[in-house]
Amino acid sequence: MKLLVTGGAGFIGSHLVRRLVVQGGHQVVNLDALKYSGNPANTHDLNSHARYRFFHGDIADQALVKRLLEEHRIEGVINAAAETHVDRSILDPGSFANTDVVGTGVLLEEARRAGVKRFVQVSTDEVYGSVETGTSTEEDRLVPRSPYSASKAGGDLLTLSFWTTYRFPVMVTRGSNTYGPNQYPEKFIPLFVTNAIDDQPLPLYGDGCQRRDWLAVEDHCAAIERVLSDGEPGQIYNIGGGNERENLAVAEQLLSLLGKPKSLIRFVEDRPGHDRRYAVDSRKLTKIGWQPTVPFDDGLKTTVEWYRKHESWWRPIKSGEFRAYYEAMYGKRLREGSSA
Ligand code: TYD
Repeated sequence: MKLLVTGGAGFIGSHLVRRLVVQGGHQVVNLDALKYSGNPANTHDLNSHARYRFFHGDIADQALVKRLLEEHRIEGVINAAAETHVDRSILDPGSFANTDVVGTGVLLEEARRAGVKRFVQVSTDEVYGSVETGTSTEEDRLVPRSPYSASKAGGDLLTLSFWTTYRFPVMVTRGSNTYGPNQYPEKFIPLFVTNAIDDQPLPLYGDGCQRRDWLAVEDHCAAIERVLSDGEPGQIYNIGGGNERENLAVAEQLLSLLGKPKSLIRFVEDRPGHDRRYAVDSRKLTKIGWQPTVPFDDGLKTTVEWYRKHESWWRPIKSGEFRAYYEAMYGKRLREGSSA
């Protein structure tokens, strides 16, 4: 297929683009705005590939999106472009609404006009809100609680309305917490791994007993590809890793993999509105032939190893724009935090 993948220089997007081009045999046009977490280095190995093209631009740029869809005769779109970090959405909610709702709307409308055959909206299990017990199914109510998850929920609803209203063949995926190589080090696992490598404190929010279901990035990408090929238009598919863990346990496990002491853990003031737990039921997706393949213990080990070997990837990131963000987000909290 001729595909437009947006956000293909980001974490999940870059793994997805590589999989679609190299293993899937698809032709991929990658449109990425290269904002703070988009990194051309994530796809540098694909630059000379005959089935791959990169374009720098925003999904909210209607003229650019229209031109790319027409010139490349795009048949399928995967929207993996998004503002994704909950903590940043607390500092700057407006940019989340712009990209995750307005940008998605522009992409949908231009894709529909261009006669695109399949449109996959990459979303998140966070739209269901905090799930204290049990698991969320695709029919569950949306109770997003952060500006990030509220914006993603808005994008999901807009996407689904294109099926109801125009019979434009859209599908929505809702993945759980994803981890792996090339993840921008603001997220929990890469932040803690890179801090630990440098013997810096690991800022654990609240009591550290929040629970997340960890999904390896390769499993997440395989799920998106499965939905692209076999998903039913108008449907939502949850993607869970089947690896539910407490944050404190993950922090201890990665410290042990790095041979670092637990005393690096610092309990800091909690994130406002912090969701206690996410857990999804992925049976609908397994029915169309997907299941997770990476056990968390293996995936975490590989990921820790990757960050250990790729300091040249993350050190420039952590010394740039990231510094001001880190100070704003963690400076005071770390000064007031307590050790494990
Ligand atoms: P994160 O990677 O931000 O993903 P999300 O909030 O979207 O699930 O955080 C994962 C969990 O780790 C979440 O419960 C918040 C917690 N966390 C910390 O305790 N400290 C941190 O510095 C970060 C970034 C996250």
